[in-house]
Amino acid sequence: MEFSEKVVLITGTASGFGRVLAYEFAQKGASLILSDVNEKDGQAVADEINANNGKALFTKCDVSNTEDVKQMVEAGVAKFGKLDICVNNAGIAGNALRTKTHDFEEAAWDKIMDVNGKGVWLCMKYELPHLLANGGGVVINVASVAGLLGVPGNVAYAASKHAVIGITKTAAIEYASKNIRVNAVCPAFTDTAMVQNSIMQDKEYGQRLVMMNPMRRLGEPEEVTSVIMFLCSDQNTFMNGQAIAIDGGLTAM
Ligand SMILES: NC(=O)c1ccc[n+]([C@@H]2O[C@H](COP(=O)([O-])OP(=O)(O)OC[C@H]3O[C@@H](n4cnc5c(N)ncnc54)[C@H](O)[C@@H]3O)[C@@H](O)[C@H]2O)c1
Repeated sequence: MEFSEKVVLITGTASGFGRVLAYEFAQKGASLILSDVNEKDGQAVADEINANNGKALFTKCDVSNTEDVKQMVEAGVAKFGKLDICVNNAGIAGNALRTKTHDFEEAAWDKIMDVNGKGVWLCMKYELPHLLANGGGVVINVASVAGLLGVPGNVAYAASKHAVIGITKTAAIEYASKNIRVNAVCPAFTDTAMVQNSIMQDKEYGQRLVMMNPMRRLGEPEEVTSVIMFLCSDQNTFMNGQAIAIDGGLTAM
């Protein structure tokens, strides 16, 4: 897989999947538009890539904020001249885990839906005109198995990730004739900060969730990012509008 001619935008690159993806795309020669709300860690990733002969621009961006998203896309296209690939990855689980639907706080619902659901749509709203101008491109939205299954204890996370799949399928149909492929990936619990800072804090509960997986383990971030890299590459020419589970067999049960 070769990305040296490609301009790749990734959200949520200060940590987890986004951070791993930034380094993997940099290794394959891509020009990178990176962003996160966490300015310190996000800038550090871009600085390290640039110090190693990479090409990365970091912008501080809250994906639920229109002005931030507009500025991220415009600054990136101004620097690199075009946009080829977008990985809309930024997301939150919220701290409302293990709260039943009737007890779920409205503010937590709004925040999770804003970042995970609206954030993906807002990014696409400002990315797609550049992919159209480019004559085509690729969008990958990071959903979750929570977009395919119910999530007892976090109704907003499940709803937001189902929304990501709906957005993905709709756009895939709308832009298929314009040479733009739009797919979603649906990872199961993977060993990133999100999982360590939330479910794995409660050791017994975390262990139970791990044991639910047929592989009896968490995923590794690279097991997810390798699939994203393939979907972004020229090797994928016909897969479009799919919600691809990367889950150790969890959703096969
Ligand atoms: N780790 C898992 O088990 C898992 C499973 C399925 C899906 N996901 C999804 O993968 C994506 C990445 O998660 P991760 O596991 O790498 O978590 P992570 O917490 O390690 O990384 C998420 C990044 O997104 C950033 N972010 C949070 N809110 C933001 C906002 N409003 N605007 C911009 N950036 C923001 C964070 O600062 C962080 O750097 C998320 O969409 C998450 O829902 C994760």
